[in-house]
Amino acid sequence: MAALSPALARTAPLYDRVRRVIPPIEWPAFADDADAILELKRRRNAVILAHNYQTPEIFHCVADIVGDSLALARKAMTVDANVIVLAGVHFMAETAKLLNPDKTVLIPDLAAGCSLAESITAADVRLMRERYPGVPVVTYVNTSAAVKAESDICCTSGNARAVVESLGVKRVIMLPDEYLAQNVAAETDVEIIAWKGHCEVHERFSADDIRQLREDHPDVTVLAHPECPPDVVAVADFSGSTAAMSDYVATRKPPRVVLMTECSMSDNVAVQHPEVDFIRPCNLCPHMKRITLKNIRSALEKNEHVVTIDPAVAERARRAVERMLAI
Ligand code: 13P
Ligand code: SF4
Repeated sequence: MAALSPALARTAPLYDRVRRVIPPIEWPAFADDADAILELKRRRNAVILAHNYQTPEIFHCVADIVGDSLALARKAMTVDANVIVLAGVHFMAETAKLLNPDKTVLIPDLAAGCSLAESITAADVRLMRERYPGVPVVTYVNTSAAVKAESDICCTSGNARAVVESLGVKRVIMLPDEYLAQNVAAETDVEIIAWKGHCEVHERFSADDIRQLREDHPDVTVLAHPECPPDVVAVADFSGSTAAMSDYVATRKPPRVVLMTECSMSDNVAVQHPEVDFIRPCNLCPHMKRITLKNIRSALEKNEHVVTIDPAVAERARRAVERMLAI
């Protein structure tokens, strides 16, 4: 039998973590980069923050901090390193930079965007303020720093209702995800004025998908992200952020589950719960999938792409994020 390459031998314990979701034949394609990334992190005093939608070889093998948008923002404040690599999309890297102005924050692919972030500009927010004078603006973190800078407070899918209710007002503007706004409106007495932004991944799920799933698998538990249309959330068993869905599986251990969200999420949660059967009608986020072990390695080797934010914008955007984190 041929001897293992040094990288394959060194990364064998990493592969053990993901063997349930990555076939053995695929691991050699990851081993070199994973091995190099671990060494680069040590050499550069770097940490990798990875969102729940990152692929398992990133999420389970090289990331130091993982979670939903809220957890990544919170944990970004506590990072003790010179360099942060954000394995996620651009707005997440900007949030990490807002909270760590003196650290180098890298995003491995500058084109890792988000359809929600692209649906609204700072000028749009100013127009909404003119149209609804005095009504506070709650902005989803899935937005650019320039949009956050025009806002009173940010929210994530994990705290949207709490943020809306924390303002103690009868009416708020909530931007830019129309479905998240409608899903929050269904749970609160606060009137919500929405924008017409949608997540290109979650808008594709339908209530019919769920009806079909329940017909095919009568015992399935359906968990839906609140970026899904309200009729999808209405027929799901539970709706919550990616972290809340993961916690639901960990604590309730449903025998069979479907996560109406991005595909890698099921892989990442399945690794930790071999006893749960995951049904997988999922949708890929093309932006999240731009991040790979190869470009994480290259980011650390070449120090690219450095995230920068105009200081005047950053100061105002940071205020909106910090106000959210204080809740
Ligand atoms: P979470 O904050 O729930 O992780 O969601 C982020 C996101 O981009 C969902 O599409
Ligand atoms: Fe944006 Fe949707 Fe992708 Fe999340 S899944 S990053 S909201 S496009």
